[in-house]
Amino acid sequence: MSMLDFGIQSKSNLIAQLLQVVGTEGVITGESDKRAYEIDWLNKWSGHSSLVVRPANTQQTAEVMRICHANRTPVVVQGGNTGMSGGATPDDSGAQVVLSMTRMNTIREVDSFNNTITVESGVLLAHIQEEAERNNRFFPLSLGSEGSCTIGGNLATNAGGVAVLRYGNTRELTLGIEVVLPDGRIWNGLRALRKDNTGYDLRDLFIGSEGTLGVITAAVLKLHPLPTARSTAWVGAKDIQSLVRLIDACRSRCGERLCAFEMMTHESVALVLQHVTDVSYPLTSDHPVHALIELADMNQEGLANMLESTLEEALDNGDISDAVISASLRQRQNFWKIREGISQAQVRAGKTIKHDIALPISAISDFVSAATAAIGKEQSNARIINFGHIGDGNLHFNVLMPAETDYATMTRNTASLNRVVHDLVHQANGSISAEHGVGQLRRDELRHYKSAVELDLMMCIKQSLDPHQIMNPGKLI
Ligand code: FAD
Ligand code: MLT
Ligand code: ZN
Repeated sequence: MSMLDFGIQSKSNLIAQLLQVVGTEGVITGESDKRAYEIDWLNKWSGHSSLVVRPANTQQTAEVMRICHANRTPVVVQGGNTGMSGGATPDDSGAQVVLSMTRMNTIREVDSFNNTITVESGVLLAHIQEEAERNNRFFPLSLGSEGSCTIGGNLATNAGGVAVLRYGNTRELTLGIEVVLPDGRIWNGLRALRKDNTGYDLRDLFIGSEGTLGVITAAVLKLHPLPTARSTAWVGAKDIQSLVRLIDACRSRCGERLCAFEMMTHESVALVLQHVTDVSYPLTSDHPVHALIELADMNQEGLANMLESTLEEALDNGDISDAVISASLRQRQNFWKIREGISQAQVRAGKTIKHDIALPISAISDFVSAATAAIGKEQSNARIINFGHIGDGNLHFNVLMPAETDYATMTRNTASLNRVVHDLVHQANGSISAEHGVGQLRRDELRHYKSAVELDLMMCIKQSLDPHQIMNPGKLI
């Protein structure tokens, strides 16, 4: 028997075992049917899987993992496939199984008195938000991809988004999780407790582990009171440092009511106006930087006044040059559509080198000046598309390359510009992946910037949970 025959036999043997567990509706083997699971939404990462498996519940997931473990078959867990770092895409070997969690989409329970919701990992983020609202509660995680991403993917990447400033990222919104380990054992950590000091925090180990330690199958999430009033403003300012002072003013005057503070440079907004339909520029003249600021509360009374007086003070002291507070839902939606449209506009505009960095808010302005100058020296005809969740210190400091840039130049420039930007981030004690995760995109850079001790600790954890390296090989670590 040749090696090829052996490979074909072991694959059909694997398929036969998996079919027994998940049935025909849970296995996809056709080349064209598998394709959607093998390419990411950016068309940046692509690979070839041996097959796609779609378990319907935790028991099936456990059985699938037991079989893959026994066969030493590598597994790539996938949720909504909206990730930014290539973490959910199989490699080119054709040997990896994609484990798609989208059939596990049941909301198991809402406990209103405990303010928790228990969900399976394939539930779409938007469905969790809707279910919370039906129960007069609020689930604050909010991302541009919320109609397509799953809570399992959010947990595995510890997703951030536009409400981190007030509510924290996915980790802070989670009380318990259920995980299927690489060998098929189930860890039921679905505790709905806000206090639990019974040993190491295994929950937080799996959150943010990007499918490299186990399969998250369910979670208990925290719910918050549903804000019934919102006040949203769009402001124009001369520079980033002025917006940093405005964040401070908003926090001091509005306290916990401040729930979003997003920054967009002139170039970012111009890109949306050029490439996204149905948006209109909110102010009468253009400004070097813009911010979208949102307050939320249980009571409309006084909320708009609070925002208005904060902005008036900023106008008086010159921190902002113009501002408008939304007078209708439509106007508010227009503000958010501009902000959320930047990702899409970048895809339409051409080849972008993306950065997802976190810095102390006090260091942002100096970083932007230094990084802009350094990129200008390396690549004078590139455009910097800088926007992000400045209220929590997270910038998407992206470089839009000239349209004519070919593949080889793009690859070369990506490496050198990443180094320029990330060296400056590192010098400022920042992070090279604030919310999008490491995946394939930042794996090698992680090795460059993390200390030997930290890398060693991460390797020890990986080795003890996944000794045969079957969970998402080639990603993160
Ligand atoms: P996938 O892309 O399928 O997977 C992501 C990673 O998680 C992979 O490593 C995968 O192996 C792993 N994984 C998935 N499910 C599981 C599971 N059940 N168990 C274990 N591992 C698993 N992200 C932000 O943080 N903030 C933003 O503001 C934001 N905005 C976005 C806007 C747009 C328009 C788009 C397209 C994306 C945006 N993202 C943002 C990125 C992305 O949506 C998030 O990373 C999201 O959390 C990924 O969820 P997913 O279900 O699509 O996961
Ligand atoms: C955002 O904040 O819009 C997202 O993280 C998406 C992106 O960086 O493109
Ligand atoms: Zn973001």
